[in-house]
Amino acid sequence: MTNLFESLFKDRKSPVIFTLFTLLICVMTLFVANTSTFTTSDPISFYPDDIKVQLPLEHDALPVLPDSKDQQEHRAPPVLPDSKDQQEPPKDHQELPHEGLLHWEKAFDNNVSVDLNMNWKLCKGAVMVDYMPCLDNLKAIKALKSRRHMEHRERHCPKSVPRCLLPLPKGYKVKVAWPKSRDMIWYDNVPHPKLVEYKKEQNWVVKTGEYLVFPGGGTQFKEGVNHYINFIEKTLPAIQWGKNIRVVLDAGCGVASFGGYLLDKNVITMSFAPKDEHEAQIQFALERGIPATLSVIGTQKLTFPDNGFDLIHCARCRVHWDADGGKPLYELNRILRPGGYFAWSATPVYRNDERDQKVWNAMVTVTTNMCWTVVAKTFDSSGIGLVIYQKPTSSSCYEKRKKNNPPICKNNERNQISWYTRLSSCLIPLPMDDAARWPVSWPNRLTSIPPSLSSEVDAGNKFDKDSKHWSRIVTDIYMEAPINWSTVRNVMDMNAGYGGFAAALIDRPVWVMNVVPIDMPDTLTVIFDRGLIGTYHDWCESLSTYPRTYDLIHSSFLFKNLDKRCDIVDVVVEIDRILRPDGYLLVQDSMEGIRKLGSILNTLHWSVTSYQNQFLVGRKSFWRPKP
Ligand SMILES: C[S@@+](CC[C@H](N)C(=O)[O-])C[C@H]1O[C@@H](n2cnc3c(N)ncnc32)[C@H](O)[C@@H]1O
Ligand SMILES: *[C@@H]1O[C@H](CO)[C@@H](O)[C@H](O)[C@H]1NC(C)=O
Ligand SMILES: *[C@@H]1O[C@H](CO)[C@@H](O)[C@H](O)[C@H]1NC(C)=O
Repeated sequence: MTNLFESLFKDRKSPVIFTLFTLLICVMTLFVANTSTFTTSDPISFYPDDIKVQLPLEHDALPVLPDSKDQQEHRAPPVLPDSKDQQEPPKDHQELPHEGLLHWEKAFDNNVSVDLNMNWKLCKGAVMVDYMPCLDNLKAIKALKSRRHMEHRERHCPKSVPRCLLPLPKGYKVKVAWPKSRDMIWYDNVPHPKLVEYKKEQNWVVKTGEYLVFPGGGTQFKEGVNHYINFIEKTLPAIQWGKNIRVVLDAGCGVASFGGYLLDKNVITMSFAPKDEHEAQIQFALERGIPATLSVIGTQKLTFPDNGFDLIHCARCRVHWDADGGKPLYELNRILRPGGYFAWSATPVYRNDERDQKVWNAMVTVTTNMCWTVVAKTFDSSGIGLVIYQKPTSSSCYEKRKKNNPPICKNNERNQISWYTRLSSCLIPLPMDDAARWPVSWPNRLTSIPPSLSSEVDAGNKFDKDSKHWSRIVTDIYMEAPINWSTVRNVMDMNAGYGGFAAALIDRPVWVMNVVPIDMPDTLTVIFDRGLIGTYHDWCESLSTYPRTYDLIHSSFLFKNLDKRCDIVDVVVEIDRILRPDGYLLVQDSMEGIRKLGSILNTLHWSVTSYQNQFLVGRKSFWRPKP
């Protein structure tokens, strides 16, 4: 064969055959080039380039964003569309009506194209109302050899989750709407009375008639949480809420009033605590419409990226920071941005008994070894003490240490994402000089090129294109979809990429949990750099959240990948678990994926509509199988 080619090319004996061959090769090359866009997974594109969406508006007709002037300063020059963009849209895409209103079709009714012999059952047993498969695995918890490091509060996912639907609490109703929900929620939706009694003195939560009311109290918020938030800013003027400090982590958050009130200052807080004797604290937080997740400082790394948070807060959060030679503090150092702050308000800071003194001394040793500096230490009018540490921005202090302890992390320790990885005792490297860049001030931070974006030549352009892509999808398609956006508060993006979907929703009264699936490119640091929050997760497992905690779940080209690793029906069961009744699932996927999903949702009595065979909106109902 090769010889034949060679002779043809060399001698050009038969011009006709030669021309035909050349033509054939051209056609083949074109074909390969075309199909390769379907199969190669470009690490920076999160949606296949070949899937073109027809948008109802011309590009110039797009509404101008309020801060367009600032945006232009930071943005790269407009990107010329590359040739791929000029492809014809796939044939089966219907023409759009010109009125601007998109035509969403009621779909998949009685059209179970996939062989689904679904006979849904209600999960049995009273505890199933609040069931979290990976946190309520009692068998695995019983078998644990130790609980000293909170192993029993960590994730222990069962091999298989029962394919049943969770019952609703008795008297469950449509939630109280945001912003009223920050202060009061229906007791019947989260009927857990223990904290009302247990934290009575600290004013965490009060039961008033049919409601649970949150007066903004807490262990350390004697004069209310707003007073406490202002106290921190006064203590250290370098902390400017909602300007340089945008992304906060509240460890051991209680009912998340700290994060809930920081929202007023344009700060987004990831509040977390374990499922423990502080009954339903995270469930309360999410029912209030405050970003929160179940997690614990135990034996494993938190599911957040390196260098993500501007500030970490702990008010009597009961973590033994100095335990195991300081491993929990090294973990904070990992997820804290260079130059970021750790605000610690706990008795060792301001009490002098022997035990507190011992803890304080241990803290001094560990923080000094990590080159953290104390930038403030003070008391407020109620006698609460607070210390604020700062992480260095360069490695110069690391070099000067007498002992290389803790050591700088090796590359192999850094290259794996923090998903079921054990706590380590090393410091992630910092730049040699003072080069670690802090993101620009909020809100410009959202649209500026993130400091951690890949240094590839084209990365900035791709990032800008991605932002434009999402802003158009959200304005032109999602806002026209059969979704009552005024009922939406807690949003989950299952496959967040650069966080473009969340960024496009920034002017709405919603918050978005940006999930970066563990088998996708790791873009979580970019998301944090933009001033958004998120977490790693494997969608073949159950999420660490209570049932009925999200109002809208979004997914973009996720299911096709997932399909290879686990059964989509199980993923749908998990979505049904975490979505509130009346909540929405909003999906863009391949036609095949949309069909399959729509058929499954139909068996769950959801109402399903689709658009252009590539978008789907499913609305969960209050329907449950008969017990
Ligand atoms: C005394 S409360 C303080 C709550 C809140 N920070 C405040 O000041 O009102 C202690 C909190 O720490 C949480 N907690 C206990 N152990 C923890 C751990 N290992 N990791 C994270 N949070 C923990 C508890 O669940 C609870 O939310
Ligand atoms: C029903 O399923 C068939 C087979 O997959 C498909 O061709 C048809 O378009 C579907 N109809 C609707 C309304 O979804
Ligand atoms: C959207 O939801 C709000 C709040 O529940 C409700 O008052 C309103 O009537 C709904 N709008 C539509 C069009 O259903």
